Amino acid sequence: MKSVLEELSRRVRTAMVKVGADGDPIVRASQDAKFGDYQSNAAMGLAKKLGKKPRDLAAEIVAALEIDDICEPAEIAGPGFINLTLKPSYLGKLLTGVPSVADGGLDRLGIEPTADPQVVVVDLSSPNLAKEMHVGHLRSTVIGDCICRVLEFEGHTVHRENHVGDWGTQFGMLVAHLLREKPDIIDHPDELVIADLESFYVAAKNRFDADEAFKAESRETVVKLQQGDPTTRKIWKAFCDESLRHCHDIYDRLQVRLTDRGESYYTDRMEEIIGRIEKKMVGADGGWIRESDGALCFFLDGFTTRDGEPLPMIVRKSDGGFNYATSDLATITHRVEELGATRILYVVGLPQKQHFEMVFAGARKVGFAGDDVALEHLGFGSVLSKSGVMFKTREGGTFKLKALLDEAVERALAVLREQDRDGGFSEAQAAKTAEIVGIGAVKYFDLAHARQSDYKFDIDHMLAMEGNTAPYMMYAYARIRSIGRKAGVAVGALPADEPILLEHPTEIALAVKLVQFSETLHGIARELRPNVLTEYLYELAKAFSRFYDKKNGVRVIDATPESVRNSRLRLCDLTARTLKLGLGLLGIETVERM
Ligand code: ARG
Repeated sequence: MKSVLEELSRRVRTAMVKVGADGDPIVRASQDAKFGDYQSNAAMGLAKKLGKKPRDLAAEIVAALEIDDICEPAEIAGPGFINLTLKPSYLGKLLTGVPSVADGGLDRLGIEPTADPQVVVVDLSSPNLAKEMHVGHLRSTVIGDCICRVLEFEGHTVHRENHVGDWGTQFGMLVAHLLREKPDIIDHPDELVIADLESFYVAAKNRFDADEAFKAESRETVVKLQQGDPTTRKIWKAFCDESLRHCHDIYDRLQVRLTDRGESYYTDRMEEIIGRIEKKMVGADGGWIRESDGALCFFLDGFTTRDGEPLPMIVRKSDGGFNYATSDLATITHRVEELGATRILYVVGLPQKQHFEMVFAGARKVGFAGDDVALEHLGFGSVLSKSGVMFKTREGGTFKLKALLDEAVERALAVLREQDRDGGFSEAQAAKTAEIVGIGAVKYFDLAHARQSDYKFDIDHMLAMEGNTAPYMMYAYARIRSIGRKAGVAVGALPADEPILLEHPTEIALAVKLVQFSETLHGIARELRPNVLTEYLYELAKAFSRFYDKKNGVRVIDATPESVRNSRLRLCDLTARTLKLGLGLLGIETVERM
């Protein structure tokens, strides 16, 4: 399906050029139907430049506008807005043209992939393997996955990179502790099981703090690890593999696919890029790459300490070691030079904002990323407990992500049982549905919040059957599917050449929402805001409720004549398909019955 927004933008732009007012047509979907379906506010900005009154310029543009085939006559409102209302006949034609689902194929609702596919790297999830995944990793994983799904749908090649923390001094301590606790691991590295990574870490740390000999041993282990000592590497790998198994239990539940490629993957590259950096040092104007207290540093414009001193980004420590920034610079060279990325997205919490600003500025300055490569940090806010403070267990520890997911699923089961008083669900069905609803609710709630904001993890709210929640959306989907069943027709098999007829205001409003799906997705692929998708789906579900409303909506199953009934059943089908596809892009499954 074509993007109506693009079509209208093109038409308004052509009219603007005709009247000598070329510029951005600034067409947007209207927030309120009383301003039409779309609005252009180009006249306001341009009028001043052209020495005209905005309303006069708007009138000139409208006079030159050729949109009879798709819109009602344009109206000028307020200081010079141009309001555009789509013709029902045009809406009907667009929707009639949506192909039915090809057998077994992905339902694209007729949305064409982009004409300009890119190679995009998404850096997502990326926990530190020393510890268990905690609630803070939920957002990176879920937001990152949604962005990947939307970009893939749009036709881009997407690399989902799990940049796990698997390198650094902590691992010397963990390997040394592991050798003391489970010495037979040397012979059976594959049999390593650590039930609780968190308490394993705490035990290692306690030993480290209390025992000088162990401390020394840990330090030696780090050196051995870095020098590639085979036994040390073997134990380290056994530990990382076990930790990754914990992560993948969670990814499986969340249905998130990704490629594990941790910091350790880039160790050889780090040596190499330091060589490349040192070559640049010679000609570095103003000495922006230089040694400072024995460390090799970048001094980048615009970064200062609180006291106004230049803030260095250390790329090689005075002991010769590398740090987080070095690994991120090396990672950029891999992504650009090996993967061919032209857009790299980092879904990482907001506290790392400055780290990424410096890494990006450094990568550009040293030539690791040219102007043809976009680097974007998609920072996000924190997940807080229901009372609005940082999540902690009763004992003050971090809250494991697994525990939260378990709780959501358990609560979803209770909600389902309550709904299902007549016991239509078997034990197994209920458990399966609870997993889908519980996990879906957690994801949806996260994605429905603006990325940068903090939010409170509120299970009752997530599982509410009313409002902008996953259960409401899933229920809306299942209910629409039941209409087809009640009508006794296979909606997918309705004659596709019969036109979709739009008369009733609720019917037209639903159609407008339906055609806006493709442009909503294109916008998300650009701006990377999943909450725009949840909002869209919620609006769509509400438009459907008004259409299907007994009192103020239309008749569907018992509508006459047959052509109207078929048209309305197809609108139901299109709504269900859009909900399913949209929820799917959020990473949320639907159920046919609920
Ligand atoms: N492992 C890091 C952490 O837990 C996040 C890594 C994010 N990605 C990156 N390329 N730096 O904070």
